[in-house]
Amino acid sequence: MLRKPAGERGLPMECLTSTAHPNGSDQQVEFGHVNAASPTVTVVGIGADGWAGLPAASRDALLRAEVLIGGARQLDLLPADCAGERVTWPTPLRAAVPGLLAAHAGRRVCVLASGDPMFYGIGRTLGEIAGPDTLRVLPHPSSVSYACARLGWPVEETDVVTLVGRPAAGLTRVLHDGRRVLVLSAGAATPAAVAALLREQGYGSSRMRVLEQLGGERERQLDGTADTWEHPAGDPLNVIAVDCVRDLGALRLGTVPGLPDEAYESDGQLTKRYVRAATLAALAPAPGELLWDVGGGSGSIAIEWMRAHPSCHAVSVERDAVRAERIGRNAQALGVPGLRVVTGRAPAALAGLPVPDAVFIGGGLTAPGLLAACWDALPTGGRLVANTVTLESEALLTEWYRRHGGDLVRLAVAHAVPVGGFTGWRQAMPVTQWAVTKAGEEER
Ligand SMILES: C[S@@+](CC[C@H](N)C(=O)[O-])C[C@H]1O[C@@H](n2cnc3c(N)ncnc32)[C@H](O)[C@@H]1O
Repeated sequence: MLRKPAGERGLPMECLTSTAHPNGSDQQVEFGHVNAASPTVTVVGIGADGWAGLPAASRDALLRAEVLIGGARQLDLLPADCAGERVTWPTPLRAAVPGLLAAHAGRRVCVLASGDPMFYGIGRTLGEIAGPDTLRVLPHPSSVSYACARLGWPVEETDVVTLVGRPAAGLTRVLHDGRRVLVLSAGAATPAAVAALLREQGYGSSRMRVLEQLGGERERQLDGTADTWEHPAGDPLNVIAVDCVRDLGALRLGTVPGLPDEAYESDGQLTKRYVRAATLAALAPAPGELLWDVGGGSGSIAIEWMRAHPSCHAVSVERDAVRAERIGRNAQALGVPGLRVVTGRAPAALAGLPVPDAVFIGGGLTAPGLLAACWDALPTGGRLVANTVTLESEALLTEWYRRHGGDLVRLAVAHAVPVGGFTGWRQAMPVTQWAVTKAGEEER
């Protein structure tokens, strides 16, 4: 880890500011990170306007740096007065960070970042590897701040999706009629990929604006709709603004669980809408949590778990290879391409999976050892929800319910259908659901 030279360990001047106190006296105010151990790397945000757009504190840090680390494009933005040794990031970047920091330990190191270093930037990587207290971050407006300024969009009303290193399908989750979305582009080809995705998803009428080189001399905007998008690939530095317009007749997908059954490609192995909504309510996803969806079928439970929050993740385990492939297609189509699909038979296929926060069992309950394996994998406080329509599995769930408590419920849904010239109820098979939170050590 890098150490700052002893003489530098005091409070940086720009972190102290004088403000007028309400009683008229002047007060010294200390900013957040200066109380931390001692920052060893200064991370400087820089925009397309380069040196000209940097505030005094950032310029000063760069002029005094002994080592300047950044992308070639960013390093080229610095004048020759910045005399520190220039080091270009190698690829892949993450693996190289610890070695690079160690190699320059004890020197004044500045890392250049694009825009706001803590917004999908190198600041995050450095913080994860070296610890946030080792960083002194000097932010620049992010591409999102610039884009919203140009468009007159309130930042807090704008959904932001990054496609840097991620599939375009991730955009689908935030498509809602009337919403404004900013897409962080992976390069010059991203606008055409976004237009294609919008057309596929029934949002072809949406207005698209591509904002290139924001804040720089070569800034420009391209305008059009997804349906008719035909601009040739432009500058790789761009963000894409989408005014979402759902086409007439396109399926409407809300934000809460219980998507229409038609949203899924399925061979019938699908937890139907009303039972699915009740199941997700029992599973209660929270940000950052991991679900095991055992007996994935069409993948609907894992998919709606992941749609609950962008940081929710899931593994769907399905023994049938055709269904497993279908789960992958449903995940793409419904905006959660990060869903991990494991083709295999549980419980064997569960071995080695990361520890879940919740487990859903939608198939395979009578497979020997499956329920026990899921239970054992759950940490204390983890949730388990199991659904079944068979008496054999219901007997098993009843036994486990008597041992561990929780809620055993029967969900019986009936749909109104035509009966001759009249209307009557058609009863779906009732589903028995056991939902339980794992308490401390218990006997099984
Ligand atoms: C009723 S479906 C689940 C529906 C699913 N929740 C959905 O909404 O798409 C049950 C699925 O469990 C799978 N299955 C059954 N036993 C299994 C096992 N031991 N391991 C993995 N998958 C299994 C079946 O192939 C079937 O696709």
